Amino acid sequence: MAVFNLGSINADLFYRVPHLLAPGETLASTEHSRGLGGKGTNMSVAIARAAARAVHIGAVGADGRWAVERMMEYGVDTRFVLELDVPTGHAVIMVDDHGENAILIYPGANRALTETHVASALESATEADTFLFQNETSAQVEGATLASATGMRIVYAAAPFDPKAVEAVLPLLDILVMNAVEAQQLTDALGGTLADLPVRDVIVTLGGDGCRWINTDQGTDQSFPAIPVTPVDTTGAGDTFTGFLVAALDRGMPMEQAILLGQQAGAIMVTRHGTADVIPDLKDIEDARLS
Ligand code: RIB
Repeated sequence: MAVFNLGSINADLFYRVPHLLAPGETLASTEHSRGLGGKGTNMSVAIARAAARAVHIGAVGADGRWAVERMMEYGVDTRFVLELDVPTGHAVIMVDDHGENAILIYPGANRALTETHVASALESATEADTFLFQNETSAQVEGATLASATGMRIVYAAAPFDPKAVEAVLPLLDILVMNAVEAQQLTDALGGTLADLPVRDVIVTLGGDGCRWINTDQGTDQSFPAIPVTPVDTTGAGDTFTGFLVAALDRGMPMEQAILLGQQAGAIMVTRHGTADVIPDLKDIEDARLS
């Protein structure tokens, strides 16, 4: 089994700042670094670190070869990462002293992916596989439609949130992952409650308050308490949660166990600075003895 992940690949440009910029303000950062990121890449690396097979469907420009090499080193299958004549995506990430962030994205090659490319990547996929995607690439509807025709499990992490992007794929989804703000925006846009969504499993991450799992088939709504840690940087923690969750389901774990594993990985992630380069693995989770 494998997780085919249609996802962004970014150079993450980190700037430590005393506080997040206000409109019109100029501010000196206290630290700067570059790392591998993109919501899609973070999830692929998390899937690989959770011991599942991550097949990444994405694109970079010639300036992004380092990113593809690094993804490969991290155990991600990159044979369906194209090199296009478009610059690689990047993100400018400000992180303040409280671990809060603000992110500006330049999509670049991530938004130049086509249905043809996704179709060729999915040729070898079967109904035992999972199709995962987020809202940082093109060809989302096309990819989900193809995956649905193959009978794959379809998981959407609705970030960066756009209600129209969610609505366009909603009937195709098996699992929808959102944070609390996004969940509120979605129910505001559609009316009704999360239990009314035409998606079997809806997972809402609540940061320091844990998460909720709504199973609309069974009519259940379960809460999972947060794992207490002191965060230094929340960037990529949601991506890590989703990657571990999807990997665990792909490996046949029940949803409760998959959520717990996702929470454990996410809890470690918020104690680290960085994104794809610092995603924990199963050994880190075992060693941390989180509860
Ligand atoms: O969720 C964090 C990610 O969002 C960063 O890695 C950045 O690249 C943006 O895609």
